[in-house]
Amino acid sequence: MINVAVLGYGTVGSGVVEVIEKNKEMVDKKSAQELNVKYILDLRDFPGDPYEAKVIHDFNQILEDDTVDIVCEVMGGVGAAYQFTRQCLERGKSVCTSNKELVAKHGPELLKLAVEHNCNYLFEASVGGGIPIIRPLNYSLTAEKIEAITGILNGTTNYILSKMEKEGAGFDDVLKQAQENGYAESNPEADIEGHDACRKIAILSSLMMGKNVDSEKIFTEGITKITADDFLYAKAAGMTIKLLGMSRALDENTVLAMVAPFLISREHPLSMVNDVFNAVFVTGNMLGDSMYYGRGAGKLPTASAVVSDVVDCARHQGKSVMCFWDEEEVTLADVAETKRSFFIRVNADDKEAVEKAFPGSTAIIVEGRKTDAGYITAVTTEREFYDKCAGLGNAVLSKIRLF
Ligand code: HSE
Repeated sequence: MINVAVLGYGTVGSGVVEVIEKNKEMVDKKSAQELNVKYILDLRDFPGDPYEAKVIHDFNQILEDDTVDIVCEVMGGVGAAYQFTRQCLERGKSVCTSNKELVAKHGPELLKLAVEHNCNYLFEASVGGGIPIIRPLNYSLTAEKIEAITGILNGTTNYILSKMEKEGAGFDDVLKQAQENGYAESNPEADIEGHDACRKIAILSSLMMGKNVDSEKIFTEGITKITADDFLYAKAAGMTIKLLGMSRALDENTVLAMVAPFLISREHPLSMVNDVFNAVFVTGNMLGDSMYYGRGAGKLPTASAVVSDVVDCARHQGKSVMCFWDEEEVTLADVAETKRSFFIRVNADDKEAVEKAFPGSTAIIVEGRKTDAGYITAVTTEREFYDKCAGLGNAVLSKIRLF
């Protein structure tokens, strides 16, 4: 028997207990031994809960119990979660987590600590919720040189953008609805400003490079400026708008990583990922393109990924599974120097000035539009594009990158 402790009895924590109990026979068989949830750590009490008796309030009880070998850190944050994770790993207790903020901030340090103490720090649930993506990158794609990763990595924003497209609704209205339905947090900033997707692409980029990509240095733009009108033009151009986390290895030490809304062709598989679903599109030098799709959030999908890590830890007791993510930092390429086309929506009165500033742009025709006009520019550096937009002042109503 192997004893497991769960840190945090919120949505994911209760899901972890549920998955271990509901799929007990299968999970025990695959772990080659019985998994027993011995403790659940939370500040609160849960009177009437079936696992009420396992709830404790003192972390030291878990730390000092030598019979606990695996700890699920699903409490979130980078304060207590960081300290608890370090202490567990130092005692040789493996830690499985869904905490992307902590993985993005301290991943390589915690992985090193796990190796030093012959245990594991696993984080399948930190990116894409229930979608297997960390293990494929670590195990299945080991023969590949990964060249690029692009993902729809945030369910809340994908839900909002999908609904804006389908219903022709404005950002604020859809966000409000999403909050009322429990899809968006009451403080949605980390999602809508792109910070959540940024942490996830930092983790994926680090695994792609085998070295650390600092999430705080990744260019990040959210979806708050996207309008219903932009979707009309995107549709007319055979495209849609998605918040993408993207990362491209430029050489062994340089990566271009960013999070931003993009116009993406309706022909691209990522354009078909709707609502709260996530997907990660990986380009390897031998395999070519592959895509990993599924539920990127939610109690049971996320808990399923955490429990898959628990099983992995049970199978590798006393030894560390390999994960290439060194502490050495990679350089982030300057996004301003990258080249791409842009979509711009401008005041109809300023069309002439815009066409002069962006020669070679293609007009997007939306029947019946009188006050604005849309264009796709020729390929330009971001710096040049933004300089020209600044020169056009209020003429430019929207600007969105093309994928
Ligand atoms: N807030 C996140 C999302 C939860 O909307 O995708 C999963 O990380």
